[in-house]
Amino acid sequence: MFIVETLSMTRRYPRTLSVGAHNTVIALNEHEVAKLFTGDTRSDIGSEAEKMQFANRVNGLVARFVRIEYSDEHGSEMLVMERLYPMDYRAYEFSKRELWFDVFEDELLQLHSAGFAHRDIRRPSDIGGEPYDNVLLTSKGLRLIDVGVSALKVKVGEKLFQRYVEEELKEIEQFKTHFLLR
Ligand SMILES: Nc1ncnc2c1ncn2[C@@H]1O[C@H](COP(=O)(O)OP(=O)(O)O)[C@@H](O)[C@H]1O
Ligand SMILES: [Mg+2]
Repeated sequence: MFIVETLSMTRRYPRTLSVGAHNTVIALNEHEVAKLFTGDTRSDIGSEAEKMQFANRVNGLVARFVRIEYSDEHGSEMLVMERLYPMDYRAYEFSKRELWFDVFEDELLQLHSAGFAHRDIRRPSDIGGEPYDNVLLTSKGLRLIDVGVSALKVKVGEKLFQRYVEEELKEIEQFKTHFLLR
């Protein structure tokens, strides 16, 4: 049933890149994609945009926020962002991947120091699919997308934020093994 719906949706929106659990992402042009937020989705476009902008002010790890726009064509609000072109890790030498990973780790720690935790580096193991699909390797190194469940220290408070950071540090270590040895 889900697959049938998904395929018919893809036909309706030929520029679809991905139909996730919550949102559909479409390509707008060569440089921009849009995440569609339909009325019934529980995620909040305003808070997702705010978190992206916060991270963008710290460094370039999270995909760049561009704008929020209403699409008459899709009948939904869209979060427009920089379009990333992911590459396959396995095409690159271990030594190169190590350099990319080091930069990624530095930038993520920088985000933590600034009060931003991504919280979705590794998807929960009970949800199928690729476990690190929010981390994209691009020609400019590793980048992050999907700040849907990210947390800002100013919003969640010091104690909870520290818990999130500790959890994230474990996920980074797991990602390192996956990324370097796959
Ligand atoms: N900035 C982007 N550039 C290219 N593809 C993207 C971008 N953002 C999202 N996508 C694609 O859409 C998928 C779903 O987006 P994501 O923000 O992770 O939403 P979800 O909440 O459904 O996981 C991603 O896994 C990726 O394939
Ligand atoms: Mg995602």
